[in-house]
Amino acid sequence: MALDFLTIRDIDLQNKRLLIREDFNVPIVNGRITNSARIRAALPTIKLALAQAKQVCLVSHLGRPNGIEEEYSLRNIVPVLQELLDTSVYFSEGLERTLHKIVLYENMRFFPGEISDDVGLANKLADLCDIFVMDAFGSAHRAHASTVGVAEHAPLAVAGLLLATEVDNLNRVMHSPKRPLVAIVGGAKVSSKIQVLTSLLHVVDKLIIGGGMANTFLAAQGVDIKESLYERDMLPVAHEIMSGPMANKVILPLDLVWDGNKIMDIGEKSCSQIKQHVNNAKTILWNGPMGVFENPLYATGTIETAKYIAESNAYSVAGGGDTIAAIDVAKVQDSIDYISTGGGAFLEYIENKTLPGIKALTRKVKYVS
Ligand code: 3PG
Repeated sequence: MALDFLTIRDIDLQNKRLLIREDFNVPIVNGRITNSARIRAALPTIKLALAQAKQVCLVSHLGRPNGIEEEYSLRNIVPVLQELLDTSVYFSEGLERTLHKIVLYENMRFFPGEISDDVGLANKLADLCDIFVMDAFGSAHRAHASTVGVAEHAPLAVAGLLLATEVDNLNRVMHSPKRPLVAIVGGAKVSSKIQVLTSLLHVVDKLIIGGGMANTFLAAQGVDIKESLYERDMLPVAHEIMSGPMANKVILPLDLVWDGNKIMDIGEKSCSQIKQHVNNAKTILWNGPMGVFENPLYATGTIETAKYIAESNAYSVAGGGDTIAAIDVAKVQDSIDYISTGGGAFLEYIENKTLPGIKALTRKVKYVS
């Protein structure tokens, strides 16, 4: 499916000042980055921009600070960024123009008006550039000044290579998948993913539900889940799905691993069932763990699922913080076809097939006409 927005490859960058919105929201413990995957994913666009444009300005958020909090300063990522780019990066606390070739501005969430998409802040950002490049797929579900407002005020707003790749891979699953398409969705809460589940049911051949959210579906089916966590409010929704026309697509756990009266993981039969569906699939989408995988005692279902997907010949796409952590533990990163940098954005894209930060980009048709 062709992308209907412009990308950085569609335009002439010579003598242009670029402002690139990154998602540098990386985990930092005691001032050290513990996973730099999001920074590494941003490099192709930055390198392309550095090679062709006059100036490259980078903006991002980091964490959810309350005003200015040093631990959320993007200054923390400068050493890693410089090392990965093999060039020095000028760090600017304020949103002033500079003459440096590459500038990283301070955490956008330190600036009042970022989250409310204030028009003044959006204009200030737009003033920094001739072209705005949106490459923060992981933040494209946020309609903030540095994701949406700036795109509306900049002379031209295009996608970076990462954003385009993310959209391309997710479209391949959602729009024209090779079938059978099997989605595996886990995690604790039905309520946070109910829209995603409903959207998925319309496009998938099988929807495997695991993790805490399976408890609610099992309870709706009359299974005694004892003292396991579940969402009482979601019982009617789960019941409606399980008695509706698409119930035959839904695969629930066959057996469970318990700690006393609480479900902690899926059991062996459930793993075999997942393996069978995964082996049969031509396309696989995965989000969310099958159990309490942070505890090694209850990680088997999630790790096995990661391995089945890695071993399958199907085209596989995975996304979400916990899912990526599980893929890391299973050491199967290289055998999953595409691992999204998005968490919330990944889910919202599946649900709505677009995101505010994508909708705000300059349309190809508008550019050529
Ligand atoms: C993420 O980690 O999902 C993105 O960086 C967005 O962060 P946010 O949920 O704080 O907006």
